[in-house]
Amino acid sequence: MLLLSNCRVLVHDSLVECNIASDESGKIRKISRSAISGSFDEKIDCKGLVALPGMVDPHVHFRDPGQTAKEDFYTGTASALAGGTTTILDMPNNAPSISTLARLKEKVAMVRKKAVCDYGLYFGATPQNQEVAAEAIKNPAVFAVKVYLGSSTGDLLIEHVADFQKHLSTLPAEFPVCVHAEDEREIRKLTEEYKKRDPKGKVEYHNIIRSPITAAISVEATCDAVSKAHRGVHICHASTKAELDIVSTYKNGGVPVTLEVCTHHLFLTEHDARALGNYGKVNPPLRSRLDVASVWDELSKERSPIDCIASDHAPHTIKEKEQDYWQAPSGVPGVQLRVPLMLDAANHNLISLAQMVRYCATNPARIFGLPTKGTIAQGFDADIILVDLKKERVVRVEDQLSKAGWTPFEGRKLRASVEKTILGGKLAFDGENVCLARGEGKLAARG
Ligand code: DOR
Ligand code: ZN
Ligand code: ZN
Repeated sequence: MLLLSNCRVLVHDSLVECNIASDESGKIRKISRSAISGSFDEKIDCKGLVALPGMVDPHVHFRDPGQTAKEDFYTGTASALAGGTTTILDMPNNAPSISTLARLKEKVAMVRKKAVCDYGLYFGATPQNQEVAAEAIKNPAVFAVKVYLGSSTGDLLIEHVADFQKHLSTLPAEFPVCVHAEDEREIRKLTEEYKKRDPKGKVEYHNIIRSPITAAISVEATCDAVSKAHRGVHICHASTKAELDIVSTYKNGGVPVTLEVCTHHLFLTEHDARALGNYGKVNPPLRSRLDVASVWDELSKERSPIDCIASDHAPHTIKEKEQDYWQAPSGVPGVQLRVPLMLDAANHNLISLAQMVRYCATNPARIFGLPTKGTIAQGFDADIILVDLKKERVVRVEDQLSKAGWTPFEGRKLRASVEKTILGGKLAFDGENVCLARGEGKLAARG
């Protein structure tokens, strides 16, 4: 049992000083402005620190099983804790992909032994596996089905809308389906054209080949398909004004679409990609300043079409990124920096602290059916982060626990520091080290 004393917590839009106690099952027992009595295994004086809910990252690629040179479930979840994230949902584009029941079972057994933060998994949709997916979602580890309408890392791809529609009609209407929406035909056509012109290639092509129109075509097709199937959908990593406009229209028309944006699309543009080279190669691509500004504009609104912010943590090794543009894989690591970056943005009044918490914790927990996560309230899991909103920190690759060994945010000054991370009432990250053993992270409750 843990006592956090003198911490400031968000009540509506203001910070109120109080004490928080957890119970023996790792839930929040009491929050009180006056002292809380009882016997505690651990007490932390939180003077000067703000207590926020442990954050939920609904979109990461921890590469385990299959590509553990890039990341594994221990290093990925450790990196999450160090960056204030206590629950992650891991994508199915492993090598091989998690699109069969046998592979799902193996992954669940492996993850159990390695995770240090709480977790859930995605199941991968293929053109043929509709019945398998309908069976897979009965496994309590599966929180959503992932559909790739455009190809990216791994071999998951549904090219024909009819195969996507079959999934939509087979899965229960309330079960989350998440879509990587980029139009495969456009991508192929432009890739061929540019490859002919320039066999070595360069990252400047990326936002042309996988253009905003390519994303818009696919988002429109996705929303159209789900509205006809009378169900909702979650659109992953929207990065352009056009996508936000399309989703807003469907949302206003009553289609339950939820919308995710990612940190790299908020803090980096196609101009940064020029300097970063393939370290800035990611699907969807880093966008124009105008698109990035439009996303921020929507994000800052109280009634925004955007529901949540994910990292889309997608590590690749330096060796892989050093290849020519055409060969280098797409993806950037970011699970450890999503929360510091967004806290820094809140500190600079780009969004409010309450919005930051909604986008990074409360809303992902709601969208993906995590009823015990994302909120500091009695009865919720005692997943809490203690942050210093005044401390300035410089992003250094040495501090990143990911195996990637690089970050596109190197050298960035951020005013906000995750001082401690608490998971289920236990100190999980003390500001320097991860304090939990492999396997102490648990499968999140699904509700
Ligand atoms: O850039 C990306 N990398 N986009 C994706 O959709 C997948 C991800 C990965 O797994 O590497
Ligand atoms: Zn994706
Ligand atoms: Zn992804």
